[in-house]
Amino acid sequence: MSSLLDRAVVTLLPAVPKPVVRRLSSRYIAGSELEDARRVVTRLKAKGKLATVDVLGEEITSAEEAAAITRAYLDVLDMLDADGLDANVSVKLTGLGLMLDPALARENLKSIAARGTFVRIDMEDSSTTDATLELYRSLLAEGYENLGVVLQAALRRTVEDARSLAGANVRLCKGIYVEPPELAYRGFEEIRDSYLRTLDVLLDGGCYIGVATHDEHLVERGIAAVRERGLDPSAYELQMLLGVRPDLADRIVADGHRLRVYVPFGRQWYEYSLRRLQENPKIAGYVAGDLGRSLLRRR
Ligand code: FDA
Repeated sequence: MSSLLDRAVVTLLPAVPKPVVRRLSSRYIAGSELEDARRVVTRLKAKGKLATVDVLGEEITSAEEAAAITRAYLDVLDMLDADGLDANVSVKLTGLGLMLDPALARENLKSIAARGTFVRIDMEDSSTTDATLELYRSLLAEGYENLGVVLQAALRRTVEDARSLAGANVRLCKGIYVEPPELAYRGFEEIRDSYLRTLDVLLDGGCYIGVATHDEHLVERGIAAVRERGLDPSAYELQMLLGVRPDLADRIVADGHRLRVYVPFGRQWYEYSLRRLQENPKIAGYVAGDLGRSLLRRR
């Protein structure tokens, strides 16, 4: 349960100066350049961890910006190939142009998927859920089998969506976007329950699962669920965000499970950083510590 102070700081975070947000969020982001992503993915590999690389940039306003993000993904794929890194990419359809024109996002996604490496389509807020699942299904039907989607346990519709995704490659997360109560569960335990119900549906539907969470209870229950079904470690993976609970990630790897780390990089770091900071349960101390250090440096 977060303290009142933590909740107050979360509300005020958008007012915190950008340089402070940048410093505080540096643990969550590989850096601003492709070279930074390469370094982090290589370091993770040395520790037995897989990666999925995300090019930051969801607030785009033109087809040119969507094209630039698409090109950045192609550069990532070239880099992964050149270095023989076993990693894939995660894309946001808004970054590829979904809000400008769904056909544009579709073409951009196709050009990334055409390279053959696995592409995870991140799930954004509920206004994009239908369009995201539709695009995923239609490209799969066109033969792009190297695609996967994400479901968010917080959404009330998710168990039903899971039923319609038999055999798919699905990352399951809690869901980060603030949604209206008629669409989403709000309670911590309600979201956990939805997560576990959805996980069962997906596993029973023969899906390849990415159990994406840092919630130890869900990690344990996820591992128990795959064990109960006698699944080989190659049939599922656990997933975590860069900079969050690396200790838990190390334990998961030591226990013999596949663990994939989400590695964001790029110059548009602000929105992603705010979301991560808002989720940090110790945010108040974190912000106070940084501001305190800045004041001391100025003395
Ligand atoms: P919860 O928020 O309860 O966190 C559990 C524990 O983890 C906390 O108690 C704390 O110890 C630690 N923790 C969590 N966040 C932290 C932070 N920022 N800093 C420090 N500690 C922290 N969402 C979405 O809507 N669409 C998507 O496509 C994705 N994709 C995605 C990929 C991957 C690999 C992951 C792990 C997560 C996502 N998410 C996402 C985000 C997800 O929906 C969710 O918001 C976060 O994972 C936090 O939820 P947890 O399940 O970790 O539980």
